[in-house]
Amino acid sequence: MIAKKGKVSIIDVAKKAGVSPATVSRVLNKTAKVSPKLTKKVLSAVSELNYVPDPFAHGLKTKRTRSIGLIISDITNPFFPELARGVEDYVSSMGYSLILCNTDAKPESEKRYVELLLNKGIDGLMFTSLRVGEDFIRSLLSDSVPCVLVGRKPENIEGLVYVVTDNYKGGCIAGEYLISLGHKRFVHVSGPLDNSAGRERLSGFIDTLKKHKVKEENIRVIESDFTMEGGYKSAGDILRLKFLPTAIFFANDAMAIGALQKFWEEKIDIPETFSIIGFDNIKVSSLVSPPLTTISQEIYKIGQISARELIKIIEGEKGDSTILEPKLIERRSCKCIE
Ligand code: RIB
Repeated sequence: MIAKKGKVSIIDVAKKAGVSPATVSRVLNKTAKVSPKLTKKVLSAVSELNYVPDPFAHGLKTKRTRSIGLIISDITNPFFPELARGVEDYVSSMGYSLILCNTDAKPESEKRYVELLLNKGIDGLMFTSLRVGEDFIRSLLSDSVPCVLVGRKPENIEGLVYVVTDNYKGGCIAGEYLISLGHKRFVHVSGPLDNSAGRERLSGFIDTLKKHKVKEENIRVIESDFTMEGGYKSAGDILRLKFLPTAIFFANDAMAIGALQKFWEEKIDIPETFSIIGFDNIKVSSLVSPPLTTISQEIYKIGQISARELIKIIEGEKGDSTILEPKLIERRSCKCIE
């Protein structure tokens, strides 16, 4: 979707008035109460900019567009296409369409897409990260824009419905499994620690190692970014450490697969040299060499439930948050240590 050059948009009006596009839409549509002060600001911005409402823009007609937006951070991570499939299958069965936006985890592109989607008449939004900022999401919620957070747990946003796997428990399962195989020295390649999934997988893993009395000197954490490239780079970092782990827990499969590539290039045998475990159970994880042991998330189902809850909210019902169970999938990338 490309904004028409020269034409004043609802976003321009919102910027001028210092409010969100959804507030502009509410004032012009009279679909919800807006304070007299904000209403005045919006109306004077409309008149100063000579704004002529686009009949197709959000809220400037009373009907819904029956479309929802899914904002994803990394289209190259196979987790997201599978998730999007779940969302799309559900929304299309309900007569809605899906618009997919990839942001490369950049807050500015996330904001830009949200504004564009609101301007074009989206009925609701699904976020897969909070990079856009908690205040931004809070302002969408206070403007009654239906939103669902997918795969992350909001820590400080009251009223935001979310659908997530129990990431802390997943980290614990990875730790228990490696301990049961007799491992003694561990590296965790985490996701970004500014997001709840990264932090919770890390805490579950470390708490479990500590519970089993693994000493701190036998644990290393490398923060990475949930991408294949990040995993590849972390594998190189591990090879340069003085510390030699027996097992490595990657906070997602994409990073584990990137690392397998690096280890293959360096002729390092997996699982002879290191046992490797991932998180997600994306489809390709059973096809790599060796097939990856991982902690599975019900990715397609997460997409379906998120879509169901968003549509409930759009249609005036209350949405519910869901926490799904992670599960160990044993393949051939881990081995027992005598
Ligand atoms: O942001 C990417 C990661 O978060 C995915 O790989 C999946 O683990 C999700 O929870």
